[in-house]
Amino acid sequence: MNQQNQAFFSPFTLPNGVELKNRIVMAPMTNFSSNPDGTVTDAEVDYYARRSSGVSMVITACTYVTPNGKGFHGEFGGDTDEMIPSLKRVATSIKEQGAKAVLQIFHGGRMCPPELVPNGEIVSASDIPAEKGGVSTEEPDVKPRALTEAEVEEIIVAFGETTRRAIEAGYDGVEIHGANGYLIQQFFSPHSNRREDRYGGRLEKRMTFPLAIVDEVKKIAKEHAPADFIIGYRFSPEEPETPGITMEDKLKLVDTLADKRLDYLHVSLGEFFSKPRRGVEDLNKTRIDYLLETIDNRVPLIGVGSIYSAEDARKAFETGVPLLALGRELIIDPDWVQKVAEGKEAEIVTEIDKNKQKELVIPDPLWNAIIHTPGWFPGVS
Ligand SMILES: Cc1cc2nc3c(=O)[nH]c(=O)nc-3n(C[C@H](O)[C@H](O)[C@H](O)COP(=O)(O)O)c2cc1C
Repeated sequence: MNQQNQAFFSPFTLPNGVELKNRIVMAPMTNFSSNPDGTVTDAEVDYYARRSSGVSMVITACTYVTPNGKGFHGEFGGDTDEMIPSLKRVATSIKEQGAKAVLQIFHGGRMCPPELVPNGEIVSASDIPAEKGGVSTEEPDVKPRALTEAEVEEIIVAFGETTRRAIEAGYDGVEIHGANGYLIQQFFSPHSNRREDRYGGRLEKRMTFPLAIVDEVKKIAKEHAPADFIIGYRFSPEEPETPGITMEDKLKLVDTLADKRLDYLHVSLGEFFSKPRRGVEDLNKTRIDYLLETIDNRVPLIGVGSIYSAEDARKAFETGVPLLALGRELIIDPDWVQKVAEGKEAEIVTEIDKNKQKELVIPDPLWNAIIHTPGWFPGVS
């Protein structure tokens, strides 16, 4: 192995005592490939197995915690006990290859396509549609219905219930999906949350829902899981809309989360070295630098975003992040970690090879999304 890469092959111990065998994890990626009833397909199970022997931890695609939280066609379900055998198939395929399996738990809120949710009824913190060109450009502007206080509480409980199912299905942990403009972020955002009850108002009150989910997940894990069950939280930096979450707001949430005794925080970024849009003094400092400074070693941070080569990873680790997630690159080259470990980093493939779907073990719906979305993956223009 190239000596310079040794740093990211050293083991890392999470706050709960779990030892990760190296510093590279697989980022959560929706693959659109589950059955319409929410059960996983063989193709999806094979896709995970193919990518789980090098990385230390695999964070799965998001799974919905309630039927009205289903955000993607072909998303797998975590909303009922009937889904436990299906959830277990993914956990087993990951763990058999030697990685820790972490289930990403999610509610899509106002970003859900109406055809996927009961009666086409879209829900959110308030009745404000997502803006085109905002956190996501993919979904149409749909006016959501504001959840009642009782419904908000049901969703908090549902995050706990899905955590219990993850435990029963054999996962090593869960990641709370508080990023990318979905329901948890919608409650923190002054754009989507105009509530006047305990879940809305000034910044601290807009943290109520995300923090209540953290507490509920922790409570359920304490009751049902071994003490080394992993609990992580993923968040996005700022939002482009006004009003919207600024970097300053997000750092306040991160500061609070850093004291919640989680096992890791995970930022969602398209570019690891990206800089804040607004809300901080120095717009030349990277978001990662701001986050590391705010967290101040209280909890491990997972960084991510356009890491393709070993050189990219080395530069990212120089910032001081203890863990790095790879997303698209592990779809493009599932042997990335092994190649680096064996000193074959020159053989890493960094563009999708359009002739290798079978060899790369990529399910058809994900493959079609990749090759029909110009600019999303390197090699597809
Ligand atoms: C196909 C695809 C699906 C994704 N699905 C999810 C998801 O379910 N949950 C999530 O938090 N992020 C999701 N993301 C974002 C990734 O986790 C990651 O943050 C992003 O791709 C940047 O990392 P990369 O440049 O290494 O791919 C997805 C990204 C891709 C490419």
